[in-house]
Amino acid sequence: MKFQISFTNLLLCWGLIWMPITFGSEDYYELLGVNKDANNRDIRKAFKKLAVSMHPDKNKDDKDAHDKFVKIARAYETLKDPDLRKHYDLYGEDNQNKRQQSYQSWNYYRDNFGIYDDDPEIVTLNRAEFEQTVETGGDVWFINFYSAMCSHCHQLAPTWRKFAQRMQGVIRVGAVNCEDDWVLCRNENIGSYPSLLYYPDKEKFRGDRSEDDLVKYILNKLDIDIKQVTPSSWPSYENIPRLLFFSDFSGDGPSEETRSKVSIMLEGLMTVAHVECEKYDSFCEAMGASSGTAVWPTKEDSHPVFLGGLEAQEIVNQVLYHLPEPPIITLKDFEDLHEKLQDGASEPWLLYFHMGEPESARLDLRKLPAKLPGIRIGRVNCGQSHQLCSNLHIHRYPVYGVFKLGGTYELYHGRSLASDVAHFARQSSRAQHVTTLTPDEFPLSSSPMLVDFFAPWCPPCMRLLPELRLASQTLGSSVPVGTVDCTVHAGLCRQMGVNSYPTTRLYNGSNVNLFTGEHRASSIVEFLEDLMSPVVQELDPDSFYEIVGKKKEEEMMLVDYFAPWCGPCQQLAPQWRKLAKMLSDLSMVKLASVNCEKYSDLCLQQGVRSYPSIRVYPLGSKGLSQVALYSGYHRDALTLRQWVMNFIPSLVENLNEDTFNRMVRGSSKPWLVDFYAPWCGHCTVFAPEFDLASRKLEKLGVHSGKIDCQEHRTFCQLLGVNAYPTVRLFLPNERGRGIDISNRSADDLVQVVASLWTTEAPEHDEL
Ligand SMILES: *[C@@H]1O[C@H](CO)[C@@H](O)[C@H](O)[C@H]1NC(C)=O
Ligand SMILES: *[C@@H]1O[C@H](CO)[C@@H](O)[C@H](O)[C@H]1NC(C)=O
Repeated sequence: MKFQISFTNLLLCWGLIWMPITFGSEDYYELLGVNKDANNRDIRKAFKKLAVSMHPDKNKDDKDAHDKFVKIARAYETLKDPDLRKHYDLYGEDNQNKRQQSYQSWNYYRDNFGIYDDDPEIVTLNRAEFEQTVETGGDVWFINFYSAMCSHCHQLAPTWRKFAQRMQGVIRVGAVNCEDDWVLCRNENIGSYPSLLYYPDKEKFRGDRSEDDLVKYILNKLDIDIKQVTPSSWPSYENIPRLLFFSDFSGDGPSEETRSKVSIMLEGLMTVAHVECEKYDSFCEAMGASSGTAVWPTKEDSHPVFLGGLEAQEIVNQVLYHLPEPPIITLKDFEDLHEKLQDGASEPWLLYFHMGEPESARLDLRKLPAKLPGIRIGRVNCGQSHQLCSNLHIHRYPVYGVFKLGGTYELYHGRSLASDVAHFARQSSRAQHVTTLTPDEFPLSSSPMLVDFFAPWCPPCMRLLPELRLASQTLGSSVPVGTVDCTVHAGLCRQMGVNSYPTTRLYNGSNVNLFTGEHRASSIVEFLEDLMSPVVQELDPDSFYEIVGKKKEEEMMLVDYFAPWCGPCQQLAPQWRKLAKMLSDLSMVKLASVNCEKYSDLCLQQGVRSYPSIRVYPLGSKGLSQVALYSGYHRDALTLRQWVMNFIPSLVENLNEDTFNRMVRGSSKPWLVDFYAPWCGHCTVFAPEFDLASRKLEKLGVHSGKIDCQEHRTFCQLLGVNAYPTVRLFLPNERGRGIDISNRSADDLVQVVASLWTTEAPEHDEL
């Protein structure tokens, strides 16, 4: 095992030396004609278009056709793979890695490249974005898992397209090419093609694959909230934004399907209601309609606007058109609002940066004010205010940015649907101390700052950002968080030695610490707490020989010999700190670490051959005279603690019936007893926990013991022990079976025992 680990380390190490620093020989993005932040779908689309026109089969006269084609194929192969793309973004073309020399026939690119790549309503999904977009994105999805080889899949295609058009804006319609992404299809248990799955329920559609049946199935699944209005209930809807459908026998107005779709599309924006005019004709007559749609766009509107149209999207667009558009923000306005934010204004801003889109493209924007009370909304036309946009390094459009109290800001990188943007705006405005960094802020000031280097197309990066915002709410102003978009500031990221995304580091004066824990807010907070009050001492040669070298017999040292670049070492670091906290009550145990890259001589002298190397210098020996090496496979804190506890003599008395009756029954002190069986796995895991508790309890005057119930079966039965482990507290003069304690962690045990002992104590004094 150890060999294998050092081998990986070696590879990692080579990986760093390898990276060729050759830039710009070919710009893959330019070759394919896509932006730096293009997603996989754009990249595929662009490539397919080029592949079909540039294929050597179709360009027989061009002797360079083959080479040209190989180039675009290589660009595509690189950019579609998250790891290769990351590498390419930072280091350019990797000349040693020109493996893609072969390609498929022209027909392949035309027919088999993906059935839905050119359909705007259908999102072609891949594994990288699946979790974030589908599983946790919060939208309803209907996804077609297909193979380009399957004829049924091609037969379904026209229906699926029509279905997607019909449901546009209501739900999200997706497609997964299982030929391209078989791992995703396997993970989703796709057994046949085509498979149509409804998410988030992940339910397989089993009906007839006709357009109507597909629509019916989806509408049945959705939670449709249309208020049925009567003349007497209508007044209760006044003074709120509302839309009312009128219908009568003629059937001239929007259909039931349209009404359902509109209600879903306007969810959260206004109340959607329906009145049956054949029942309430005088009410409808008074309103001036018998079929059709009326809207009161804001709560101030007392007169309705009547809308034409029978299609959901058409109706919704008219509704949005009647909602006010956010004001234009100029450079001057921006400077004012930014100054106010720095001076303690009370409302953050959401700004929409765009460049020459038609007004209709901004309709979705009008949904936002209703979704974001307490956040002001404006738009910036980058065509007019290019100075402002370029100051903020905004080079793609449209993009949203949140400008927060205190003057920090963040740009949004997700999908621009109103609900996604609103979610981001709420989250980001709360995380006041998270801000976007540009090269202007470097070198950083000497005060601590957590900096996250990311790329918008990298899914783990996009998952980490919300966690950072959450963590920042705990950290507050003491450790602000900065983010750097490496696709915009590639030079800065290279200069900072970033070679993977996301890279998150704490900069504090001249100290830099890499965050390697789990990508969760709690781990990030813990990482910083550990840095502020270290539980593991990092040793240099002097302190090593002083502390470990001169260790006393009644002390025990645990040392982690690591190399900062080694993956398993990075995973161990947070566990090592956790272990230190778990063992903090054992005053004779100290944890330390040695950076073997920095102090290679020291590690060489100590014969360290692989990283991480975990060593214990045990009790009863002086200095470095005795050492034990950890050779286990798991390096989590719990497993390591179990191993460490073997080196510490236990305070837990081994009891039998006789000693129990003498020592426990006759004691003036309470006893905590662990009834166990040697074959019980839970007991083995629990034993070190009980050991730890016993040390703390000893200080409170509570003794601990254990009884092997396999050896002393009848005695355990006599005491009514019928599960292992069983923990009982026997108070002084206790004659019965003791008090059962169900808690299993050392701290809980101590707390519960302490409370029982002090509350019981006075009673016993009286006796
Ligand atoms: C930054 O460094 C200072 C001085 O070394 C230290 O006191 C402080 O705890 C550090 N802050 C963090 C967040 O690590
Ligand atoms: C111990 O366990 C009991 C019962 O499960 C529970 O009610 C109590 O909160 C626990 N005590 C501690 C300190 O965790």
